[in-house]
Amino acid sequence: MIHIPRAEYTRRRKALMAQMEPNSIAILPAAAVAIRNRDVEHVYRQDSDFQYLSGFPEPEAVIVLMPGRQHGEYVLFCRERNAERELWDGLRAGTEGAIRDFGADDAFPITDIDDILPGLIEGRDRVYSAMGSNAEFDRHLMEWINVIRSKAHLGAQPPNEFVALDHLLHDMRLYKSAAEVKVMREAARISCAAHVKAMQASRAGLHEFSLEAELDYEFRKGGAKMPAYGSIVAAGRNSCILHYQQNDAVLKDGDLVLIDAGCEIDCYASDITRTWPVNGKFSPEQKAIYEIVLASQEAAFAEIAPNKHWNQAHEATVRVITSGLVELGLLQGEVDELIASEAYRAFYMHRAGHWLGMDVHDVGEYKVGGEWRVLEVGMALTVEPGIYIAPDNQTVAKKWRGIGVRIEDDVVVTKQGCEILTGGVPKTVADIEALMAAAR
Ligand code: GLY
Ligand code: MN
Ligand code: MN
Repeated sequence: MIHIPRAEYTRRRKALMAQMEPNSIAILPAAAVAIRNRDVEHVYRQDSDFQYLSGFPEPEAVIVLMPGRQHGEYVLFCRERNAERELWDGLRAGTEGAIRDFGADDAFPITDIDDILPGLIEGRDRVYSAMGSNAEFDRHLMEWINVIRSKAHLGAQPPNEFVALDHLLHDMRLYKSAAEVKVMREAARISCAAHVKAMQASRAGLHEFSLEAELDYEFRKGGAKMPAYGSIVAAGRNSCILHYQQNDAVLKDGDLVLIDAGCEIDCYASDITRTWPVNGKFSPEQKAIYEIVLASQEAAFAEIAPNKHWNQAHEATVRVITSGLVELGLLQGEVDELIASEAYRAFYMHRAGHWLGMDVHDVGEYKVGGEWRVLEVGMALTVEPGIYIAPDNQTVAKKWRGIGVRIEDDVVVTKQGCEILTGGVPKTVADIEALMAAAR
């Protein structure tokens, strides 16, 4: 299995600590287990920031980073080994495993955190944490601080600065290392295979969930634990619902089906959309819309390179889509004016993409100092223009209504431009029709 190597987690912790102010401490909790119903739990997914710094896959754990601490800079609180619980729920690293296998300098049972952590915080001037994102943890943190404050008369020194960790950590996460790109390529490869499988399986009379099953099969077979987000399998007019997830309608002859789905490998997402005709052959109207979306995506790729700014790709898609809609008579007027008045938004109401990484809508600022961010090598993003003609849009001829097309690929910025990670699934009309014809 392709995964992030251990040494990379060490490197990340060191890089973060190098950016922290002197005499500070960073504290991050693992994701909590989420209850699904009664005693059934949701599949566990580690918190992305916690995973990024530790690779430690268990709940009930807390990372503590103390740059410059002589007795070890990286302390991990985690669950202890427990033969009875491990018999029921699976193996635990325990404190020894945290040191041996996960590079902690020191490890303590999570049950001892209230006794130990205030002592680690005491004397540090500044605390970095993900303030505001986990109310229960924020409350615990204040309790630990108050333990120190209550001993001030004995000379204890509580910290007096609290800083959001997000800014430092999320900027690091925005730049993908070679190892990260390798994992993202693998997630993309598996997701491409899943889309191909779904295209090949597409038949009128099946349900949207029939195609979702093909996706899930390929994801799991490729080693993915789960999709990176709820798969969207939207046939016919459902393709005009941007985050449709009901996935239970019948696939009809003559309709398009839009699939937006990607798997997650070692906590890295892929995010692919393809749109194809259920019966394997685009109608003239479907093809006309499809070709505009495809051309707009090509125009966007050309705007992704170092020194281009974040919004250039989006602007390119807006221009191609607006002029395409004018040519088809779906919009009337001058292209520049229609862009200025955002008339295209009746058909193209979302942005051309987002950062991609451990979270499908990944962290990282889109603007810096009020200006669109300039792209740099290693940034990963999606390129996903679309046109959606609402089923009840009375301003267009009936034949156009209910057509929804999105095409989405994942890219990483390179020195020369960008690498498309998701090229393994066809997207020209000819290639899609050929693939589908061969599967019939
Ligand atoms: N899958 C959600 C998105 O494309 O942003
Ligand atoms: Mn996306
Ligand atoms: Mn998507």
